[in-house]
Amino acid sequence: MSILLTGGAGFIGSHTAVEMINAGYDVIIADDLSNSSEKVIDRIEIITGVKPKFYKVDVSVKEDVRRIFEENNIEGVIHFAGYKCVPESTKVPLKYYRNNIDTTLTVLEVMEENDCNAFVFSSSATVYGDKNQVPFREDMPTGGTTNAYGSTKLMIENILKDVAAANSKFSAVLLRYFNPIGAHPSGLIGEAPDGIPNNLMPYITQTAIGIRECLNVFGTDYNTPDGTGVRDFIHVVDLAKGHVAAIKYATEHTGAEAINLGTGNGSSVLEVVHAFEKASGVKIPVVFKDRRPGDVEYSYACVDKAERLLNWKAQYDLNDMCRDSWNWQEKNPKGYE
Ligand code: UD1
Repeated sequence: MSILLTGGAGFIGSHTAVEMINAGYDVIIADDLSNSSEKVIDRIEIITGVKPKFYKVDVSVKEDVRRIFEENNIEGVIHFAGYKCVPESTKVPLKYYRNNIDTTLTVLEVMEENDCNAFVFSSSATVYGDKNQVPFREDMPTGGTTNAYGSTKLMIENILKDVAAANSKFSAVLLRYFNPIGAHPSGLIGEAPDGIPNNLMPYITQTAIGIRECLNVFGTDYNTPDGTGVRDFIHVVDLAKGHVAAIKYATEHTGAEAINLGTGNGSSVLEVVHAFEKASGVKIPVVFKDRRPGDVEYSYACVDKAERLLNWKAQYDLNDMCRDSWNWQEKNPKGYE
C-alpha cells in the first residue's frame, strides 16, 4: 500500500517515513525542502534499507500533486507539509494562512479526484488554547489559539471535519501533537532548526554543543511545582509510530477523529534541563527570563483515546528523549549541513 507523506523530509515526517517503511508500507515523500534537506532521504535509506520515492514539489501546486497521484497508487496521505515557526507566524500571518491552508486544500482536492479517502493531519495541542484544564481531552472545546500558526491548525481541523461530514467515504485523523523531542536512536535523522531555535530541546542541545551561550528559561512564576511551564514531551519515534497506527485506522474507518499524541505526563522546563544534564553529562547554563507571550502554564494529554482507537501508547521516557536528542546533536553539530 502506497502512502504519500507531504513534508516527509521534515523532523516528524522523516521519523514517520522510517516507521512506515519498517511496518511494510511503500512510502512516497513530497517535500519542497523549504525547511528540510534532501540528505534526509539518503539517511532514511541507510536506516531502513529502502529508499523512499521522493518528489521535490510544493504540494500547493495542483499539477505536481496530480502527477504524484498519476504515477503511484496512493491509498492514503499523511499531511505534514506546513510552516511551523510560531513567532514568525505572528509577524507574517498571511504567509502562514496562504501556505498551510493552500497545501491542505490542494492535497484534499486531488485526493477527491482520485477517490483517495484516508487522511492523517499534523495538528497540535495548541488547538486547546488557554482556557481548558489539563489533562487535555479530545472532546474539550478548541479555540483561543494565540498565533497564526495555531489558528491554521484549528482551521484545517474544521475543514477536515466538514469534508468528512460531506463525504461518507472520507476518513481524517487529526493528530494533536504535544511536544515532540528526541531523535532516531541511530543519530542519522533528527530536528534541524533553521537559525535560532524557538523550541526548548533544540535550544538546550545547541547550548550543550556550544552554539548558544545559555538557555533562557521563560517564566519562573507559573503556578507549577518549580514555577516553570509544564509540557508533555514525547519521543519523536513514539510519535512516528502513532502515525503508523493512525493511517491504518484511517484506511479502516470513516469520519473525522481528533486524537492526542502525548505521553500523558507533564515535565517542567527545569525538569527537562536536569534530565538533559544527567543524560548528556553536560551542564546547561540557565538564565531566568519573563514569561514568553502566548505560553500556557500546563499542557499535557489525556492519552486514553489514542490507546482505545489506535492501540498505541508512548514507550520512551524523558531520559531516552534527552539521550537521543543529544546523540543527534553530537553526531550532527550543524544539522544536515
Ligand atoms: C510551541 C507552540 C506549539 C507548537 C510547538 C512546536 C505555542 C503556544 N506553542 O509549543 O503550537 O506546536 O511549539 O513548534 O506557541 N522554553 C524556554 N526557553 C526556550 C524555549 C522554550 O524556557 O528557549 C519553554 C517555553 O516557555 C515553554 C516550554 O519551554 O514553557 C516549551 O516550549 P516550546 O518547546 O517552544 O514548545 P511549546 O511552546 O509548548
